[in-house]
Amino acid sequence: MPDSSDILDRSRAAKPVPKPGIMDIHAYVPGKSKADGVENPIKLSANENILGSSEKARAAYQTSADELQMYPDSRTTILRTAIAERFRLEPERLIFGCGSDEVFALLNQTFLEPGDNIVQGEYGFAAFAIGARACQAEVKVAKEPGFRIDVDEMLKVVDERTRLIFLANPGNPTGTWIPFSEVLRLHAGLPPSVVLVLDGAYSEFATDPAFQDGLDFARGADNVVVTHTFSKLHGLAALRVGWGYAPVEIAAAVDRIRLPFNTSIAGQRAAVAALNDEDFQQRSIAHVEQWRAWLTQQIGGLGLDVVQPSATNFVLVGFPQTPGRTAAEADDYLSARGLLTRRVLNYGLADHLRITIGLEEHNRAVVDALADFMKA
Ligand SMILES: Cc1ncc(COP(=O)(O)O)c(C=O)c1O
Repeated sequence: MPDSSDILDRSRAAKPVPKPGIMDIHAYVPGKSKADGVENPIKLSANENILGSSEKARAAYQTSADELQMYPDSRTTILRTAIAERFRLEPERLIFGCGSDEVFALLNQTFLEPGDNIVQGEYGFAAFAIGARACQAEVKVAKEPGFRIDVDEMLKVVDERTRLIFLANPGNPTGTWIPFSEVLRLHAGLPPSVVLVLDGAYSEFATDPAFQDGLDFARGADNVVVTHTFSKLHGLAALRVGWGYAPVEIAAAVDRIRLPFNTSIAGQRAAVAALNDEDFQQRSIAHVEQWRAWLTQQIGGLGLDVVQPSATNFVLVGFPQTPGRTAAEADDYLSARGLLTRRVLNYGLADHLRITIGLEEHNRAVVDALADFMKA
């Protein structure tokens, strides 16, 4: 927490000095998109939709080409209406952002003062903490035994300065999920002043009947925000569209600090078209389900430790620490074959790689390469 002497020191400094804590934040590290000496590598490092995006969404995107000089509708009305109708939600309770990342940042800015804290799992998605630290808040982490959120561990770290608790369900980079009965237990154990943020970025890939994204529950709750994105299932990561469903007071508070034009015309139109393209959504989910099971089984069969069950469009794979067999060496080996995976060192997981589910030929190439790697 800054005190008055920090403020004095900064004003006497010979050049501008960022506020305390900013330079301690680890900047977000995106997935690799290049490999030395390999033309057109296969990018399995950012959990994008390997089937691309809906043709209808691409057509809607193109219609914006002649309107680039215009500011977009600041209220995101066409998408607000479409989402409200589709999920039977009150339009005034929706928050839109430049990706769901921005919705997290807006929530952090709305609730956090220096010295407050957020709570997240030990492998919580990096964007939660970046935004909290930018508000000079603390990030408290709860253990995730077996790479799974543990509600009791989360409740243990909540204290009187906790303002938000972030739960990605399913999680990234773990891929695991908790049943909604556990989410309800978490909510019941929280003080009513704490906002529970349920990040459903991968929720459409969680096909077990015990999974719920929380929208139904959030309807009647005063302190629950559910977020979703068009970046994963809908394959519109480039357009940066995310949304949240919040109590009306929270949506109204966020709206005061939201910058006016934070979703583009192209993004709004493409997102509406994507939402209506159920065929593309179903094909994407079916593809992920089929190849996730196959990859889990095949990679497990090589003696590697796949974190299970994944309810997302990626798998997290554990490697031994034996020289020649490590995650870092596997990453290099795969890269040299044009297969880009994600190291997850920033989550404290030095022995794991996260691999996005690819097309059939990509998945087969990953398994072949890993088999050769383990034999080499
Ligand atoms: C768990 C999780 N939440 C949220 C997001 C943010 O997605 P976007 O900002 O593209 O909506 C991601 C992206 O990778 C994610 O993995």
